[in-house]
Amino acid sequence: MPDEKQTLTVTDNRTGKTYELPIQDGTIRAMDLRKIKVSDDDFGLMSYDPAFKNTASTRSRITFIDGGKGILRYRGYPIEQLAEHSSFLEVAYLLHHGELPSRSELESFQHAITHHTMVHENIRELLDSFRYDAHPMGILVSTVGALSTFYPDAKNLSDPESRNLQVQRLIAKMPTLAAYAYRHRRGLPYVYPDNDLSYAGNFLNMLFKMTEVKYTPNPVIEKALDVLFILHADHEQNCSTTTMRTVGSAHSDPFSALASACAALYGPLHGGANEAVVRMLTQIGSKSNIKSFIESVKNGEGRLMGFGHRVYKNYDPRAKVIKKMAYQVFDEVGKNPLIDIAVELEKIALEDDYFVKRKLYPNVDFYSGLIYQSMGLPMDLFPVLFAIGRTPGWLAQWEELLSDDEQKIARPRQVYVGPDKRDYVPLSERG
Ligand code: CMC
Repeated sequence: MPDEKQTLTVTDNRTGKTYELPIQDGTIRAMDLRKIKVSDDDFGLMSYDPAFKNTASTRSRITFIDGGKGILRYRGYPIEQLAEHSSFLEVAYLLHHGELPSRSELESFQHAITHHTMVHENIRELLDSFRYDAHPMGILVSTVGALSTFYPDAKNLSDPESRNLQVQRLIAKMPTLAAYAYRHRRGLPYVYPDNDLSYAGNFLNMLFKMTEVKYTPNPVIEKALDVLFILHADHEQNCSTTTMRTVGSAHSDPFSALASACAALYGPLHGGANEAVVRMLTQIGSKSNIKSFIESVKNGEGRLMGFGHRVYKNYDPRAKVIKKMAYQVFDEVGKNPLIDIAVELEKIALEDDYFVKRKLYPNVDFYSGLIYQSMGLPMDLFPVLFAIGRTPGWLAQWEELLSDDEQKIARPRQVYVGPDKRDYVPLSERG
């Protein structure tokens, strides 16, 4: 609509004054509201938006989501096409550089990632200090944060080459840390990376290699894992990405910022949901218990985990790909009996008024846990797998933040509703 005036006219009924605010890309600038004042010494109007439900904090070129239509694209490429034709490292390159790589660019990126997979031996000692039953996500948060002490050069944020090196280190080392966390839990010796294998294949090697001289990954599992990593690679300004950007905005090094993103992802409302789904399905136990479970959710006794999304008000496109892939994995390793409960639960929920009215559909976590479980992975490793996949996205968003002239240290405002000024009362005089 080129002829339409791209402005918003607001009248402040407290003063009767009218203001014209520019509209750009469907947004007004929150700072423009500050011109709206009742007096010269008034601070000016602010917008109040707990949980940032309607606040754009950045202009981004990385990921596009249309939650109403169920569309997800990385740098313009539909997620379905990337899942079918691309590889995780190619997607990581795309997210980071903005374009698909040429063959030689991809080869040199793959080479760099493959040759940064080792972690310092001191990390093994750090791992040994965790309790035998430590949650691998807790271990991941700690060991990623600890990496910052091994790479003090990562503080050099103004050097693009240094930033690029840290990106490669992080993408390369996340699977190693994740696998070590798993092996620690199992009381098994750590397995060093194998440079002959693909990213996902090497991860399987570090998880599952026992006494064999050379580990050969199952190609179906290797491909499924790679696709799962692609599907998790970015999701624009979600909770953990916002955490990465917030910590990054203070110019902390990327290892510290990424550890904080992992901590955010750990929460059951975010990346912990895949684990919660499998626990929920196990607890439901049989199809005959689904109706009563749905009733308990509707009565507010808990949530249907793996359902609902802040942005998607339609079927999550990632869940569609994962549901289809689940059957391919089951053909290879045997059916996970929980899938029948999940499919029936989905069917009943999607026909139920409570879920229909609130536009609650399966999200990425609803089926992913079932695949991970069939691969022989324990539930508490699921969010760690999410973190490996999300790492390139977090880093692309961090890079974008640092090269955005409009960004400054993140610092929201508040509406103070606490007590007015009052005088201190000495302890002896308090009741
Ligand atoms: N089960 C039952 N009711 C739900 C659910 C659910 N899973 N999700 C939302 N609702 C209800 C909620 O009770 C509320 O109802 P009412 O209007 O009557 O109060 C309404 O739907 C809106 O919910 P909300 O909590 O305001 O929505 P939100 O955008 O703040 O929350 C969410 C999004 C993902 C945290 C939420 O849907 C949820 O807790 N889902 C279950 C956990 C889950 O699967 N998380 C993974 C998200 S996808 C992976 C990722 O990106 O991290």
